[in-house]
Amino acid sequence: MRVRKEYVKKILGPLHGQAARNDSAEAFMPSNIALIKYWGKRDAELNLPLVSSLSYTLDGYGTTTRISLSDKNILILNGEEAEQGGDDYLKVHAFADLFRAPGEKYRIETENNIPTAAGVASSASGFAALLAALLRLKVWDVPLKEQSMLARLGSGSAARSFWPGLVLWHKGARDDGMDCYAEPCRMPLSIGMAVLLLEKGPKAVSSREAMGLSLSTSPHAVNWPKAQQEHLDALMAAGRGSDFEKAGRIAENNAVLLHTLLEESQPPIVYDTPATRAWKQKVHDWRAAGLPVYFTQDAGPNLKIIFPLEYKAKIEGHLGAAGIDYFTV
Ligand code: PMV
Repeated sequence: MRVRKEYVKKILGPLHGQAARNDSAEAFMPSNIALIKYWGKRDAELNLPLVSSLSYTLDGYGTTTRISLSDKNILILNGEEAEQGGDDYLKVHAFADLFRAPGEKYRIETENNIPTAAGVASSASGFAALLAALLRLKVWDVPLKEQSMLARLGSGSAARSFWPGLVLWHKGARDDGMDCYAEPCRMPLSIGMAVLLLEKGPKAVSSREAMGLSLSTSPHAVNWPKAQQEHLDALMAAGRGSDFEKAGRIAENNAVLLHTLLEESQPPIVYDTPATRAWKQKVHDWRAAGLPVYFTQDAGPNLKIIFPLEYKAKIEGHLGAAGIDYFTV
C-alpha cells in the first residue's frame, strides 16, 4: 500500500491529499476487450504487466459510478449493498484510499450495463469509472495518460479504457512504473466487434487467481512473454497494412494461446462451456464459408467476434438468426 501511495503521489503532485470540492460526482467509462492479451504481472504491487497489450474499446458499454461524501464508507454494486469487508468492498475502498483526504468517507454506487464478472471486462470499466468519478469529486484535472496509470492500480485492463477504438498499453521497463501507460493506437483498420453473452453468471476463477496459477504451473508459461510480443508486433504490422484477415488470425491465435496456458495449469482452468465450444466452431464454419470473422476470449466463457466494420449488418443478421443474446460495437 505504501508503494502504491508513493506512486500516486508522484503522479498527482500537489493535488495529492487535497479534499473533495464537490459533494458528489458521476462518471461513465466504457470497457475494453484485448485483441492481444494482458496476462501476467512483472510487479504485483504496482500492477506492472509482464507484456504489452492491445485492446478495442466497447463504446457505450461499461460502468456508471456515482460517489457522494458520506458519514461511512459504502459500496452499492448494481443496486445491492456490498458486504463490508467482502472482496468487492475491500478492493474498491482500498483503491479509493489512494485518493482520500483525511477523514473523507464515500458512498460509491456503481452500475454496469454489461454482465458483471463474466469475462466481459467489467473490472476495466469499473476501475476506470471509479477513478473518473473520484477526479470529478475532487475537481482534479489529470491528463488521460496519467489517468491510465492510476486506474491500472485497480485493475490492469482499466489502463486501456480512456480512449475509443484501438488502445496500446505499454508494459514499460522501469521498476518505478513511470513508463507503464496506455495510449490510442491509430491504424487504418476498421474493426467491428460482437460480444456474445453466452453465460451471464460470475466466472468460477477470477482473472487474478488464474493469472498467478497459469504462469506458475503451465509448462509453456516461460514462452508466453516472447510469443505474446511476437503476436503484438505481427498484429501491429497487419494493422498498419490494413490487413484485417491477418490481424484477426493473430488475435484469435493469441486468445487460443492464453487458453492453452490456462488449460495446461495445475489444476487446469477451463473457462469454456459447451456453448463456448459450439460458438468457436460456428466462427470457424462461418469463416470457411467466406465470412471474415475471428473470435477472442478473455478469462471467462463468453466469446467476442471481430470483423471488418463494413460487415456489421451482415454479422448482426447471422447472430439474430442464431437467436443468441449479443451486442455489437
Ligand atoms: O484487468 P484484469 O486484472 O481483470 O485482467 C484482465 C485479463 C484479460 O481480460 C484476460 C486480458 C486483457 O488484456 O484484458
